[in-house]
Amino acid sequence: MTPADEAPATAGEPQAPSFDAEALALHLLNTTQAAAVACLGWVGRGDKEAADEAAVGALRSALADVPGRGRVVIGEGEKDHAPMLYQGEELGTGTGFGWDLAVDPLEGTNYCAQGVEGAIAVLAATPRGAMWGTPGWYMDKLVVGSGAAGQIDITLPVDDNLRRVATALGKQVDELVVVVLDKPRHAELIPHIRALGAAVIQIPDGDVMGSLLALVPGGGADVALGVGGAPEGVLTAVAARLLGGDMQGRLAPQSDEERAVLDEDGIDIEAVLTLGDLVADDQGAFVATGITNSALLDAPEVVGDAWRTSSVVVTPRHRALFVEALVPRPSGTA
Ligand code: FBP
Repeated sequence: MTPADEAPATAGEPQAPSFDAEALALHLLNTTQAAAVACLGWVGRGDKEAADEAAVGALRSALADVPGRGRVVIGEGEKDHAPMLYQGEELGTGTGFGWDLAVDPLEGTNYCAQGVEGAIAVLAATPRGAMWGTPGWYMDKLVVGSGAAGQIDITLPVDDNLRRVATALGKQVDELVVVVLDKPRHAELIPHIRALGAAVIQIPDGDVMGSLLALVPGGGADVALGVGGAPEGVLTAVAARLLGGDMQGRLAPQSDEERAVLDEDGIDIEAVLTLGDLVADDQGAFVATGITNSALLDAPEVVGDAWRTSSVVVTPRHRALFVEALVPRPSGTA
């Protein structure tokens, strides 16, 4: 695709460098590592705002060194009234190819504050114009791995979707494992899925990681579904597209305030968002680094004068590249 703001060079003009997902991913890896180690001092300290602030500050300053013309499409979000990494903020060195960014420097703020498993620093980038931006705060999501791609329809009851996924995977419904956020809004959904015979992994927070369990082969889940953050939905969509999985979403406002914002922008909340609507390009990069331990990523660990960090990088060429890397510790750090 040729995004509208990436005008093709005319004859005689130098060719603009094109989006390079592989190179960009390695630069972005530095930024999630920086965010992860920056909030380590806040793990288990009960202050999620301070932890988030530390992660945001570190990620934002690391992003300044990433080549290209970055633009935040999905930022800290209206939901959290965050002052930095806001929608439209320009980042990167400012020269070279353009990229769009979805970012969550600390996904799972409660996990970090409580010192429990599941906190990550995560972001995703696509070529300019390929990422769906949303003023929405919440989204109903349906996510499956590559084995069930093309088989989901979020307008159908969950019963039908689970049957379709089971058939595609050559399983019975009672062999499926479904990840659902453990929220009051899912008080009926969770027992309903169990009554159909499927197992449910209830996670208090962190549906990006929850979705990865369904998207990454061997992640331990077949489906992730239910209402979570809309920004997290776009992050998940980049991973789904790169991993050959599938996803559908639909905005799901949870308050009158959110409904009013969507109304003001003339957004059709009934519209089904396909994976192609959410991410309109096969090129992209998704990177996540563990802050506390989780099923896929370890918390940073002190090794001499460095932290050993654990990350996953997903690009068109590298599907789920797990990276353990040493990040130097400033002297005097505990
Ligand atoms: P934060 O890290 O911003 O707290 O988000 C955690 C999270 O659980 C997301 O993974 C999820 O999409 C969203 O919050 C759900 O929002 P809520 O907790 O308001 O239902």
